[in-house]
Amino acid sequence: MITASVLLPAAAKAAVPVLCIPAARWPEVSATLPTAELASAHAQGFAAEPGRVLILTGSDGKISRVLFGSGSKANADEAFLPGKLARTLPQGVYRLEGELAKPRLAALAWLLEAYSFDRYRKKAETPASLVCPAGLDRDELLAEADAVYLARDLINTPASDLGPAELAEAVNNLAHQLGAEARTIVDGPLRTGFPMIHAVGRAASASRSPRLLEFRWGAEDAPRITLIGKGVCFDTGGLDIKPAAGMLLMKKDMGGAANVLALAKLIVGAKLPVRLKVLVPAVENAISGDAFRPGDILMSRKGLSVEIGNTDAEGRLILADALSYADEEQTDLIVDLATLTGAARVALGPDLPPFYTNDETLAADLVSHAEAENDPLWRLPLWPPYEKLIESKFADINNASEGGFAGSIVAALFLRKFVERTRSYLHLDIFGWTPVAKPGRPFGGEAQGIRAIFALLKSRYLR
Ligand code: BES
Ligand code: MN
Ligand code: ZN
Repeated sequence: MITASVLLPAAAKAAVPVLCIPAARWPEVSATLPTAELASAHAQGFAAEPGRVLILTGSDGKISRVLFGSGSKANADEAFLPGKLARTLPQGVYRLEGELAKPRLAALAWLLEAYSFDRYRKKAETPASLVCPAGLDRDELLAEADAVYLARDLINTPASDLGPAELAEAVNNLAHQLGAEARTIVDGPLRTGFPMIHAVGRAASASRSPRLLEFRWGAEDAPRITLIGKGVCFDTGGLDIKPAAGMLLMKKDMGGAANVLALAKLIVGAKLPVRLKVLVPAVENAISGDAFRPGDILMSRKGLSVEIGNTDAEGRLILADALSYADEEQTDLIVDLATLTGAARVALGPDLPPFYTNDETLAADLVSHAEAENDPLWRLPLWPPYEKLIESKFADINNASEGGFAGSIVAALFLRKFVERTRSYLHLDIFGWTPVAKPGRPFGGEAQGIRAIFALLKSRYLR
């Protein structure tokens, strides 16, 4: 959980001013600085370059002011630059002054930078505190950061401490906290009702058996939104085992589930007038004598038979059964988030998740909110001709294409087969991880897409 002391109320005590200066404005701004400060800036070659921090001290040796190159509005990602201050400035209390591209994102980035995963460490370093800039809603910022922290904590927790049972506990805890009704489907009912979730998860040890987690919140007659998150607590690849380098990060394969829980927290926290349903198929893609095999043909919940071309394409199998279940109920919007393919990373890299939808309005709205929130997303096509790649010789469909071309698109096309009735369906193929730290984005588990989706939902439903 986030500590509220990272963002102090606007009325807070004395704080060190951080003067934010876009590089282009340096000539004018520098002319207004006291002579000693200007001399110090010159001596250290400071010219308000984006991200540059200069700590100035008074004759008493204390920090009197900080100069900061705050970047330009032209580069959307630079809105997060001030985030780095939370960890580069010495502990203390600061306030932001001057010119910021987007003050709300600057404050949010500060909070997001202040995150660290300390569960397994003796010592934690305290970040610098920020006085909430005037005109910003402090509670809203803290709630947003808190949701991101939840997603990161779940992803960063190793599979030894976060298997299907612990993920279930996290879902139930959150449901309880939100005042939602939760239930878990396991064993017989899972095997008969959700055969592919069961098949993927059945090789894990008994205490880590597969399950479908579900909770509902909100008024029965409100617009219906269903969120589905891929909850593969560890992905060995199954019998089509991953090589060491590919398996190393696979504790994060429940990143979709973690993000969906965080999104649910945001939606309920803002009391959006919607009927929310959250589904998390939670499994471990393990290897044992009982593992599902390449060449097996599984019967899905929907009744489509699925030939297993690759046991490592497990995410789409568990999502398919959850999607059919969601699609059986009259629903206005289904959203799934999943660390679904390595191919999405090859196409767009770790920081720009692709999304898929046939709803043109939704696509356009999502693109604009993603940009505004600096929660980048990029639309890729559900290109029908590639459905050929997952035709099966013996079953209705294959779970993997042979050549491996267009892997992220093919996976999205597979999922879409299981959503027939719901008009609006959105799929995000996220990485869920920051491999190289950036301002506001520390190394490790990451929330992706949920701030953009939340902003979109707020714009639609909050009056
Ligand atoms: N969880 C992986 C996808 C993944 C890998 C996400 C690396 C992020 C980083 C998924 O279950 C998987 O293994 N997908 C395969 C599919 C293939 C066998 C058709 C992939 O992408 O290689
Ligand atoms: Mn896999
Ligand atoms: Zn996986």
